[in-house]
Amino acid sequence: MIAAAVLVAAGSGERLGADLPKAFIEVAGRTLLEHAAMRFADHPEVRDLIVVAPESHRDEAAKLAPSATVVAGGVTRQQSVSAGLAALADDVELVLVHDVARAFVPAEVISRVIAALADAAAVIPVVPVTDTIRRSDPATGELHETVDRSRLSAVQTPQGFRRVELIAAHDGAPADATDDASLIEARGGKVLGVAGDVRAFKITYPLDLKLAEVIAHD
Ligand code: CTP
Ligand code: MG
Repeated sequence: MIAAAVLVAAGSGERLGADLPKAFIEVAGRTLLEHAAMRFADHPEVRDLIVVAPESHRDEAAKLAPSATVVAGGVTRQQSVSAGLAALADDVELVLVHDVARAFVPAEVISRVIAALADAAAVIPVVPVTDTIRRSDPATGELHETVDRSRLSAVQTPQGFRRVELIAAHDGAPADATDDASLIEARGGKVLGVAGDVRAFKITYPLDLKLAEVIAHD
């Protein structure tokens, strides 16, 4: 099956608070976009690479990921994913949607997701939740019960999809829909979980860059 990766990098990285979009921040001498793109470009089972960049940084993205097709993203992540899907080659059968913010995803996770697509329309990498989690009311700050952690999974990327099912799910979806896997599920498709990896964590806050630096030198 021919696979393509859509790397979404069009966010602004507000929570990181830097003066440039998150994908263009450097860790260990390379931008997050380069770290992420490398991992997919080097993967033997991924043929095509599509990078969804901020409109202002399209040329920059094309320089950093020379083997990729670069398109401009949208206001929401969902819109950015849609822009990436529109650039897929006709013969692509499997699509991996990946957050460039998860720049250090190990190759094994990519392989596991692709392998599991033999049995499901959608595959998501998951890791156990380590924090104790309570339901709460964001409006009042009131705390409710603790949720049983053993019944929760944190979802990472790349999330893998059979192309036809993902396109169909996107076509009917609102622009601010939750994640792609939920869209598939809403249409009755099967979503399979595979083991993620802590190294595929999402770089969100400045402190996360320190962990990224450690992983990059590992
Ligand atoms: N993303 C995107 N287009 C958007 C919003 C997000 O391509 N309109 C991408 C980001 O570039 C990132 C991934 O989706 O790789 C996950 O989003 P997040 O970690 O929230 O990144 P940002 O939206 O850039 O960060 P923040 O929410 O702090 O602004
Ligand atoms: Mg965001």
